[in-house]
Amino acid sequence: MNTFRGLGEDPEYHPPALTGRPRDWPLDRWEEAPRDLGFPDFARYQWRGLRMLKDPDTQAALHDLVYELRPRTIVELGVYSGGSLVWFRDLTRLMGIDCQVVGIDRDLSRCRIPESEMAGISLREADCSVLETFEPLRELAHPLLFIDDAHANTFGIMKWAVDHLLEAGDYFIIEDMIPYWHRYSPKLLTEYLATFRDVLTMDMVYANTSPQLDRGVFRRTTHGR
Ligand SMILES: C[S@@+](CC[C@H](N)C(=O)[O-])C[C@H]1O[C@@H](n2cnc3c(N)ncnc32)[C@H](O)[C@@H]1O
Repeated sequence: MNTFRGLGEDPEYHPPALTGRPRDWPLDRWEEAPRDLGFPDFARYQWRGLRMLKDPDTQAALHDLVYELRPRTIVELGVYSGGSLVWFRDLTRLMGIDCQVVGIDRDLSRCRIPESEMAGISLREADCSVLETFEPLRELAHPLLFIDDAHANTFGIMKWAVDHLLEAGDYFIIEDMIPYWHRYSPKLLTEYLATFRDVLTMDMVYANTSPQLDRGVFRRTTHGR
């Protein structure tokens, strides 16, 4: 599952290269112009020259969520090129939010954030299947936005976050995977999610805003309902 859409490709951002058509299309042949893009769309998503594996509608929804929540910490599991970490850092700065962005990945060799762009961002090389990885996160400032975009041990991490990290109003987002899990293991997925019924709710403002966030945006309730 982790090898589709972007992963395994070049982590370096390359501007779109048109195939089989000129960039300057002649206007006397306007009607014949192809309507498809002529290049893969996902590979062109970028933030200031860094690849970002988030669709534009996901970016728009996360913008709105960050603006509403005003997080003091954003943790993202899965760094890849690092574009989304820089985007979150820049976004919070533009909004005047004092926010620390933490990226965790078991393979940081693909991270392309230049040293000069690391202010407000910290990286940790760690495996999400080892829960001890998350112990240092206990001291982080709230409100907290926690995004699982690594898709390893997701429900183990969600349980740990609920038990040790998330305060009322904090968010836990499962990116990308819910539609796949729902398609292939609907019973298990609904059982897993139901175990969190007393501590998390799905935020219906954001849960249907993009396919990547589809039914995967959860908010920590007060302790118990
Ligand atoms: C979808 S990419 C992250 C994309 C990035 N969040 C973005 O929006 O641009 C998933 C990343 O998860 C990492 N990953 C996969 N399994 C992992 C694990 N068990 N522990 C830590 N990172 C893992 C991969 O190395 C990869 O860089």
